[in-house]
Amino acid sequence: MPDEAVVEPTAGPIVKPLPPELFDVHGSCAEMRWEAMRGVGYHVPTDRFFVRNHTRTPVIDAAAWRLELHGSGLRAPRSFGYRELLALPSVTRDVLIECAGNGRRFFTDQQHQEVSGTPWRLGAAGAARWRGVPLAAVLKLAGITPGAVDVMPRGLDPCYVADGVDHGRVRRPIPVAKALDDVILAYEMNGEPLPPDHGHPVRLVVPSWIGLASVKWVGDIEVSAEPLSSPWTTEFYRMLGGEHPPGGGPPLTVHDAKSAFELPWGAVLAAGRPHVLRGRSWSGRGRITSVEVSVDGGASWRPALLHGAHVARAWTRWHVTWNPPASGSYTLLARATDETGATQPMESPYNELGYLFNAVVRCPVRVINV
Ligand code: MTE
Repeated sequence: MPDEAVVEPTAGPIVKPLPPELFDVHGSCAEMRWEAMRGVGYHVPTDRFFVRNHTRTPVIDAAAWRLELHGSGLRAPRSFGYRELLALPSVTRDVLIECAGNGRRFFTDQQHQEVSGTPWRLGAAGAARWRGVPLAAVLKLAGITPGAVDVMPRGLDPCYVADGVDHGRVRRPIPVAKALDDVILAYEMNGEPLPPDHGHPVRLVVPSWIGLASVKWVGDIEVSAEPLSSPWTTEFYRMLGGEHPPGGGPPLTVHDAKSAFELPWGAVLAAGRPHVLRGRSWSGRGRITSVEVSVDGGASWRPALLHGAHVARAWTRWHVTWNPPASGSYTLLARATDETGATQPMESPYNELGYLFNAVVRCPVRVINV
């Protein structure tokens, strides 16, 4: 049984330290503060990568852990140990993981709409370098059949109970076409073995899709010749309410575009001197092609200079220089356009659970005389 590998309950829901200069803590989740990325390279260092836990981080003994592959879509169901996975040919990719609820609090703060869920600002996203085995390779070794339609990984963290209902372990099916395309069974993050909070010993990394699909602490994967579902596709992670169809839209897949400044929320800057405003933009639909910045609340816009890697499945860095002329309150805005031509709108479509906030975020800044 995969559970035997779970060796000890942890003291709190998250194992790593959560210093206040790096994180804002929301219950069992921790949001990265964007100023923690100032002067930092392309990847989010593991010590400040956001954590989204439905329950708590399990501590798993990799030597006892096994990944079970089972279901009607396999000819040769089998399991893999940690060492067996490490011995398979690996890939290394830069991939951004973003929670579908990232930016949720702006539905309320900017659009005056009531939504429920963790009130993230923009810090529930991060790009890291992941190394692991393509899921496709493992599925082929287990004899995936042409009739397989869905692949459902399941985590070894405790069952998720909400409003007195036990929804079981975190699991969410992905269609076979995506599973065979670019999904990784990752065992390394930023060049080190995966740490407990990010899925040790092995997690899925599902590029361009909402973070939920990147199941952590994976213990088994069902491959089915029939469509699969879970509460994470029937009840949660769908667009409910507002203009959406009764019963909700389809299960969410690709994450939307966003932009963030590498500034503290409510930053204080000195008047009359140039400041380099740095930021990052990303989109699950593809590469970022341009970013515009406004320093006057959206009255006028100027292009930001994009630099470094333009990775489709991660993010693009950019900057503008701004010399605030006088003290006072300012609103900074950044809006990205991706390779499909989609530009971040000024308003995001309302949904009750506050998913996929993709509108331009209004960042307050105070300029003072020094
Ligand atoms: N996998 C398991 N087993 N349990 C979880 O609670 N949370 C998901 C996903 N995988 C989750 C999980 C969600 S909603 C997100 S956004 C990402 O993990 C977050 O990954 P991170 O904590 O490494 O940043």
